[in-house]
Amino acid sequence: MVVALSRVMRNLLRGNINPLVAFAAAWALGACSSRSASGDIAVGSSAAAIDRGRALVIFGGCHDCHTPKLMTSAGPILDSTRLLSGSPARERIPTVGQGVLAANGWSIATTADMTAWTGPWGETFAANLTPDATGLAGWTADQFIQTMRTGRRSGTGRALLPPMPWQNMAALSDDDLRSLFAYLQSLKPVSNTVPPARAAATTARR
Ligand code: HEC
Repeated sequence: MVVALSRVMRNLLRGNINPLVAFAAAWALGACSSRSASGDIAVGSSAAAIDRGRALVIFGGCHDCHTPKLMTSAGPILDSTRLLSGSPARERIPTVGQGVLAANGWSIATTADMTAWTGPWGETFAANLTPDATGLAGWTADQFIQTMRTGRRSGTGRALLPPMPWQNMAALSDDDLRSLFAYLQSLKPVSNTVPPARAAATTARR
């Protein structure tokens, strides 16, 4: 609540908010906080949790692999219409020329937007993390936590392949993972069925 109020104050200082609206917002937040004290509002999806989750997503580099990019003259930028929607299903993956990937496994290739990868493990495509049916709609916070703790798909499926750095996320507390999940669930749902992973020298394991 302190975080939310200070944002109102910051915007007020920058002149972004009419003082009367700010007063009304502060009053409403005050009303909310007394309600949350009585346990009516789920802590896991509070504005503070979502803000924390947003910061963790940025710090955790999730956009690097999970958000399609737009190429501009100033370099790649995140496509804000498709935040965290995973490797675009419609884009054709370029074929990797013979000899580019060393036979001894010492090479990794990725697409220009870093959402699709190939290496000694096979081919992987960054998942759609938005709350769409083709993404994480229907997931529970517990399932998300289990995925990050075990490195298994949907918490119980096959082992997640590189370069998904789930081991890094496993170091977060349950509260932080819940905040991360709350932020992902607050995103705009984007319909994008990510191509199935292809594990090296086996059939598709998705
Ligand atoms: C270096 C690239 C990279 C980064 C950084 C990354 N991911 Fe991933 N992620 C992937 C890839 C690739 C897959 C698909 C792996 C597979 O199919 O085995 C994936 C899969 C996932 C899945 C799918 C799990 C499932 O069961 O389908 C979730 C959830 C996920 N990532 C969340 C995150 C979050 C949250 C962050 C940031 C904190 C993040 N990832 C950062 C590359 C990345």
